[in-house]
Amino acid sequence: MLEILKRPNPLALGAAATGIRRAAVIGAGSMGAGIAAQFANAGIEVDLLDIPGPDGGPRNAPAEGGVARQVKVHGFMGASGPGRVTPGNTVDDLDRLAEADWIVEAIVERLDIKRALYARIETVRKPGCIVSSNTSTIPRAALVAGMGEAFARDFIITHFFNPPRVMQLVEIVAGPENDPALVARAHAACEAVLGKTVVDCRDTPGFIANRIGCFWMAAAALEAKRLGLTVEQADAVHGAFGIPRTGVFGLFDLVGIDLVPQVWASLMKTLPEADEIHLFNLPADPTFTALIAAGRFGRKSGGGFFRLTPEKKKEALDLATGEYRPEQPVVPASLPGGGRDLGAMVDAEGPLGAYAWAVLSTVLSYAAAHGPEIAGDVGAIDTAMELGYAWRKGPFALGDAYGAKKVAERLAAEGRPVPDLVAKAVAEGGFYESGRPLTMSGGHQEHAPSAAPLSIARLKAKGAPIAGNGAASLWDMGEGVACLELHTKMNSFAPEVMDILEETIALAGSRFRALVLGNDDPRAFSAGADLSFILGMLKGDDRGTLDTYITRNQHLFLRLKYAPVPVVAAMHGFALGGGCEFALHADAIVAHAELTAGLPEISVGLIPAWGGCTQLLLRAAALDPAATPAEIAARVFATIFPALKSASAEQARE
Ligand code: NAI
Repeated sequence: MLEILKRPNPLALGAAATGIRRAAVIGAGSMGAGIAAQFANAGIEVDLLDIPGPDGGPRNAPAEGGVARQVKVHGFMGASGPGRVTPGNTVDDLDRLAEADWIVEAIVERLDIKRALYARIETVRKPGCIVSSNTSTIPRAALVAGMGEAFARDFIITHFFNPPRVMQLVEIVAGPENDPALVARAHAACEAVLGKTVVDCRDTPGFIANRIGCFWMAAAALEAKRLGLTVEQADAVHGAFGIPRTGVFGLFDLVGIDLVPQVWASLMKTLPEADEIHLFNLPADPTFTALIAAGRFGRKSGGGFFRLTPEKKKEALDLATGEYRPEQPVVPASLPGGGRDLGAMVDAEGPLGAYAWAVLSTVLSYAAAHGPEIAGDVGAIDTAMELGYAWRKGPFALGDAYGAKKVAERLAAEGRPVPDLVAKAVAEGGFYESGRPLTMSGGHQEHAPSAAPLSIARLKAKGAPIAGNGAASLWDMGEGVACLELHTKMNSFAPEVMDILEETIALAGSRFRALVLGNDDPRAFSAGADLSFILGMLKGDDRGTLDTYITRNQHLFLRLKYAPVPVVAAMHGFALGGGCEFALHADAIVAHAELTAGLPEISVGLIPAWGGCTQLLLRAAALDPAATPAEIAARVFATIFPALKSASAEQARE
């Protein structure tokens, strides 16, 4: 524990373990500069090279422009990030690549240009340096063909998603010539250093997420047309699938309809004639060709399937006539199952139900038919869709939610092929069994040995907590360490939480010798005081209970601060108001990089009253011993009064 408390820079921990001390990214467009920013966010120095600027201007203008754009789009987590990126150009600064432990190529999507660059990289890089391409469409085999043994051994594809800071997925494609230790190192670096989730892919067109995602978008758009749905209806039906609110037509507007001739056409060109994507020929569809011809690419060009009139009225494209008309919003409550129940939606009579079934069955059949050639198990495909396309559940998990048996029966009844993998799922009781995904050869994946981080879920599986009620639990994490978990709505401080906090403090030193404050809920460490409880007390003019609620927590937080054991707060998600004050009383904070922390009580007409103001004053004074008390107070006031909330852990620390 002390070891953890003393470590100077937790950001650098993962870096040292994977041997990535310095990185280089070539290509400073939206992807390359975004990936460079993510290295910087992880505390790693990175060279960002692009082509030299036009004659007479600054040589590094393109790379500098990439950094500036990342500042603007919040690709950096804090003020120190840009300082870790050194811009340069591939003519004057190629020798800088000799320093890099990992070189990421993110230049224009052209095989000949990428290969010419690799030949130059090969003259300078140090042995064992990982070289990876961010290509989204070019096979690894084509990129390495004839490049030499050493290059092929060290070269992989690392496919990041846009924007790189936000999107959780990285697809890795390795080949038979790769050094397995190097691939493992890249894998670990993506996860431990850059905070991503890796899905291992085969060297097949579009890898996993875009292969399934592009197919889904094509099928979902063209089936909506065939079945006579409006764009609003089609997007709303997707709500029942747990697909983001953009649905499918909203997503085309977001990514840009001008990508259709490039991305979809190129995928169709590389996939064999028999691939079902050819049944949904998006690049040849008259609705799409007309939009592209009219320059209606979506949000970037002021309109696509949806647009705003100069009077700021929303209009939508009529798929039958190709004309715009006033938007016809769909109220989810008017949909089968309230628009949130997959089974009710897919089983519904009428065009909406027919559409839901068409999308589910077509996409699931495609994923099942091609699963064995693109992935090791169904879990990889679901993870890719969940993290690459923000689906709440991937196609196979959706299949289980509806029922694999029902899917198979309906396909058979309609005379459509039942893919082997669907039949296997029916025979084995589903695509998942206790969370274990079906492998492509049948049978569910064995549980991986648990190297996974310790979670409350795993502690729960072992037995009962040391203490607990409906609002909080104290868990034994082993080796004398306990974890205090809040489990109210958004982990807010209901009065019952205080009972367990009090019990926890009483047990400190006897039942455990170190304490972690944390939970598994990705949304919130703690959203703070229970405001509805406070409001109830105010409305009932019950000042006595309210006073007790406030002072009891003040005292408990102080007792936590002076507890006879070290206390570490594992902050993540929202840590606001009382939740932030809770963590400020810990001896140390280990924070998730994407942390929203702050004391924004002012915005609901309150001031932080559980000791947060004092703890901020103490911290500010410790940081700057030369400052006068008035200066320190002014700084803390400037944090609390505007109700500042951090957009990252680095900002929270600042
Ligand atoms: P972009 O067009 O925004 O940027 C490409 C950059 O590379 C430009 O700044 C250009 O000046 C530079 N460049 C071109 N040739 C170069 C060379 N020979 N040497 C040095 N720099 C050179 O492109 P974007 O969107 O950033 O894509 C980059 C790569 O990432 C492509 O392979 C693309 O397929 C892939 N990708 C793109 C995604 C996206 O959403 N934009 C998502 C995932 C992958």
